[in-house]
Amino acid sequence: MTALDFPQRRATALALLLGLGLAPPAGAQTPASAGQQLATKYCAYCHVVTPSGSGGWTNAPAFQTIAGNKQFTAASLSAFIQTQHEKMLNTGRPRNESDDIAAYIISLRRQ
Ligand code: HEC
Repeated sequence: MTALDFPQRRATALALLLGLGLAPPAGAQTPASAGQQLATKYCAYCHVVTPSGSGGWTNAPAFQTIAGNKQFTAASLSAFIQTQHEKMLNTGRPRNESDDIAAYIISLRRQ
C-alpha cells in the first residue's frame, strides 16, 4: 500500500460503514414481518404462507385459512408452533420465533 491510496481506502471503509448504517436496524421489524420471514423459511414447503403465495407440496391448510379459525389466538398458535408436527423437525420453533410467526398468522385474519 502506498501512502497515496491510503486515504482512498479509508474513504471506502467509511462509505461501507455509512451504508450499513442506512440499512434498517433489525429492531425496526414488527413481529409480524419477522414472522413472515420465518414462515417463508420454515413453513412454505407445506403451507401457503402469504395470501397470494403458491401452494406447498402437502394439503396443509393455508395460513390465511388458519388465521380464519377463530379458535386460535396468538398465544395458542404460538404454543402449537413450538411443538413439532407432521414429524418434521423444523416445524417446532423456539418461543421467540413462534410468537412472531403466530403474530404474522393472526395479522392475516380478516376484520
Ligand atoms: C412437512 C410439512 C409441513 C411443514 C414444514 C409445516 N407444516 Fe404446519 N401443517 C402441515 C400439515 C399437513 C397440517 C395439517 C395437519 C392436520 O390437519 O392434521 C399442518 C397444520 C398446521 C397448523 C394447524 C392448522 C389447524 O387448523 O389445525 C398450524 C398452526 C401449522 N401447521 C403451522 C405451521 C407453521 C407455523 C410451520 C412453520 C414453522 C409449519 N406449520 C410447517 C404440514 C406442515
